[in-house]
Amino acid sequence: MKGVILAGGTGTRLNPLTRLINKHLLPVGKQPMVSYAIDRLRQAGITDILIVIGKQSAGLYTDFLGGGEALGVSLTYKIQEAAGGIAEALDLARSYIAPGERFVVLLGDNLFLDDLTPFINKFIQQPYGSARVLLKQVDDPRRYGVPVFDEHDDRLISYIEEKPSEPKSGYCVTGIYMYDDTVFEAIRGITPSSRGELEITDVNNAYARRGKLEYDVLHKWWGDAGTFESLEEAGQQMKGVQP
Ligand code: DAU
Repeated sequence: MKGVILAGGTGTRLNPLTRLINKHLLPVGKQPMVSYAIDRLRQAGITDILIVIGKQSAGLYTDFLGGGEALGVSLTYKIQEAAGGIAEALDLARSYIAPGERFVVLLGDNLFLDDLTPFINKFIQQPYGSARVLLKQVDDPRRYGVPVFDEHDDRLISYIEEKPSEPKSGYCVTGIYMYDDTVFEAIRGITPSSRGELEITDVNNAYARRGKLEYDVLHKWWGDAGTFESLEEAGQQMKGVQP
């Protein structure tokens, strides 16, 4: 199984830091943010990893990570020319994923303490053409994609609302996704949202509409480091974690 880390985008909520350096290279605990995503994949036995980066700081990524040998992984890079959305960044993995292959996608600003192995093992049991997302209970779901589902039902998500003003559950869809190559057809079927981006939530809803979006709930701490407050919290949480 392969891994894809999405580290494009502009990181505007972390201005002025992100005017100087790409968000995913900012320090979290004792490491640049991107190191943790690589570590979580390697911990789950995934060593072939594609990183999608923006043009900003591209040289710093290769200076720091190189081909990944020192981290025990094999890295490939793709450049996302402009921040056209998470699903647009994911589409750049199309040629990296073989026909029929399954893979794990991580948003580069998502930090978490769970080992992904048990969730990946469940995904492997799912039929081809389905997808899996990981959820986390959060204080303010309005900042995230929010799943509409019956916690006591059959582990399927009915649909996801992106940053709803009145969330229908207290959970967020984290930036940890599991797909096979059918995701590229799903991306082809969506159009840009009102903010002009290809949204990952629209991709996931294409699976949900067909009753093919399953989920698990993370047990340990999770956060996205897209704002100053969450970056600071992530730093505290990850301090003791040694990639
Ligand atoms: O963190 C979880 C949330 O991430 C989900 O609950 C939402 O459903 C999902 O849409 C996303 O929301 P955000 O508003 O936090 O996404 P953001 O635009 O901050 O992008 C998150 C990461 O995705 C970013 O660190 C890098 C990658 N990305 C994003 C964009 C817009 C790209 O690689 N390219 C892009 O064009």
